[in-house]
Amino acid sequence: MPAEDAIFRGAMRLLASGVTIVATNCRGEYSGLTATAVCSLALSPARILASVNRAGRTYERIVESRIMSVNLLAEDHAPLADRFAGRTGAVGEDRFAHAAWEERVTGAPLLGNALAALDCRITEIVQLDTHALLIGVVEDILFGPARAPLLHFDGGFATALAPCSGGRDA
Ligand SMILES: Cc1cc2nc3c(=O)[nH]c(=O)nc-3n(C[C@H](O)[C@H](O)[C@H](O)COP(=O)(O)O)c2cc1C
Repeated sequence: MPAEDAIFRGAMRLLASGVTIVATNCRGEYSGLTATAVCSLALSPARILASVNRAGRTYERIVESRIMSVNLLAEDHAPLADRFAGRTGAVGEDRFAHAAWEERVTGAPLLGNALAALDCRITEIVQLDTHALLIGVVEDILFGPARAPLLHFDGGFATALAPCSGGRDA
């Protein structure tokens, strides 16, 4: 029997996640949302997965445009993450004001000072009940200035970049 929603939610609050903005360009209009349900999926070709609520405004636009960017946020991006989560009341293109965006290969908006901004073309969409898994091939990557990441943990934003013992990739 599945765990109760509240208990599951309480457990997943304890999973520290990187914070991203998933965005698209649908018929010349930008749309995007803050998302933590994002992960690297595979190499050769490089693929990424994002779980997006089907009831949101951005989902339908990604389905129509078949392109998305995944912008990896830095510690100074907490206000932007609030904005793209709808906490300031901004919707649609208004969310893109006050930051610099650029287009590369697909036309999806890339955040110029993200840690990295991945320019993706959607290859598969797996529909669940409330959410859909969007799988995209990464066609270009823009690297911004290196700094600490924005994390989400226990219901709030945090940052940390203190190495502890263990493996480290080259
Ligand atoms: C920290 C945080 C993480 C979030 N992660 C996701 C996510 O992974 N997927 C999702 O669909 N919504 C997520 N949301 C909610 C959306 O950002 C929010 O509902 C947004 O306003 C949807 O925008 P839209 O209506 O343009 O789609 C998250 C919100 C916050 C604050």
